[in-house]
Amino acid sequence: MEELVGLAKRRGFIFQSSDIYGGLQGMYDYGPLGVELKNNLKAAWWRAMVYNRDDVEGLDAAILTNPLTLRYSGHEATFTDPLVDCRACKSRWRADHLESNKCPNCGSDDLTEPRPFNLMFKTQVGPVDDGSSFAYLRPETAQAIFTNFKNVVDSTSPKLPFGIAQIGKAFRNEITPRNFIFRVREFEQMELEFFVKPGEDEQWHAKWVEERLNWWSEQGVDRNQLELYHVPADELAHYSKATVDVMYRFPHGLEELEGIANRTDFDLGSHTKNQAEYQIQAKVEPNPDSNAKLVIQDLASKQWQVPYVIEPSAGVDRGVLAIMNEAYRVEDLGDGKQRTVMAFKPHLAPIKVAVLPLKRNHEGIVTKAREIRQSLQKLGLGRILYEDTGNIGKGYRRHDEVGTPLCVTVDFQTIEQDDTVTVRNRDTMNQERIPVSELGHLVQAHLSAEHNG
Ligand code: GLY
Repeated sequence: MEELVGLAKRRGFIFQSSDIYGGLQGMYDYGPLGVELKNNLKAAWWRAMVYNRDDVEGLDAAILTNPLTLRYSGHEATFTDPLVDCRACKSRWRADHLESNKCPNCGSDDLTEPRPFNLMFKTQVGPVDDGSSFAYLRPETAQAIFTNFKNVVDSTSPKLPFGIAQIGKAFRNEITPRNFIFRVREFEQMELEFFVKPGEDEQWHAKWVEERLNWWSEQGVDRNQLELYHVPADELAHYSKATVDVMYRFPHGLEELEGIANRTDFDLGSHTKNQAEYQIQAKVEPNPDSNAKLVIQDLASKQWQVPYVIEPSAGVDRGVLAIMNEAYRVEDLGDGKQRTVMAFKPHLAPIKVAVLPLKRNHEGIVTKAREIRQSLQKLGLGRILYEDTGNIGKGYRRHDEVGTPLCVTVDFQTIEQDDTVTVRNRDTMNQERIPVSELGHLVQAHLSAEHNG
């Protein structure tokens, strides 16, 4: 983990947030390469969940959430972790993370009994700070999928089974954030709510577990580093009938990368019931077109029904950590030499191609290299970098370390003789000379070879 954290900072993947003021615990910022990696991972998820299917629509909902949504979802009452205080040094700990009944900070055994601590962040909405107008920062993206259920159904007319996908920030006031970007207070989720007929939920649950395992493998996560954990009944979230966690062997241990839950009709049912009561209490005129009945009509039987839902919910930041950990390797090159390589799948690599001029001050070479960079950028494959540090060998090493699949070197032969360039492959370290006219094809073929769509 230390090596990964060091590389992440040094090469601009991930920084401690508010670093110059001592940081803010449980918050991280993604740097120039981190934002590319993270965006590529999210794009791969979106392709797999939305574009490659005919039964899923997307959504991008607000983060600040009406407290009633989170009351009736059950989060106000039950979304808690057990908190203990150390009476000696006043530090606070999550009871189920303590290895003994001693304070990890000062060693005292004078700890309070565990009490429930709600993980949701509250913030004031509007100018009046009297505690009456507050909103929660959402603890999961899922609730906005449920509250928008009827809006999506009415605007897209789907038939069961179908899903609604969303990627976005979520917030949890973790008692003890730790393990780099694994357990943080502000994070991103990639969540699919896949609605099915009651009775078909268990078979869809099993199918989604399989789909998600395959997807993580396609992102370069070794299947041998993944395990399934069937969450026991006494550990299930309040909304779940059954949950299977995809566990990954992180540098700090085997922990959850994604949870796949059978949430039954718990959420849609609860919001439908409580919205009806809310209308009566708030004396809202009953609206026949109300979008609050979170139901769908079965076309054959004409019955309205609350569907069941299967939820594959993955952590983006945990995904980034897993993918960096899988990609990281130090290779022996003989003669006591080593190289560090981030062997990202090409579709996840932050930089797709680096174009390097052999001489940084030679006008002809520099102009040609810039032209090549622009024409490759236009292919729309992701970030192409022009880099004129002038030392090609060092350039290759630097790009190995950030996982750039291909480097293209422009030299005297390119501009004076035959319009060819050297293409150097990150994984094989082979270099081949090819005409500039073939470069676009080669780059496209290389980057899409293992592309998952
Ligand atoms: N939506 C599931 C979770 O946030 O854990």
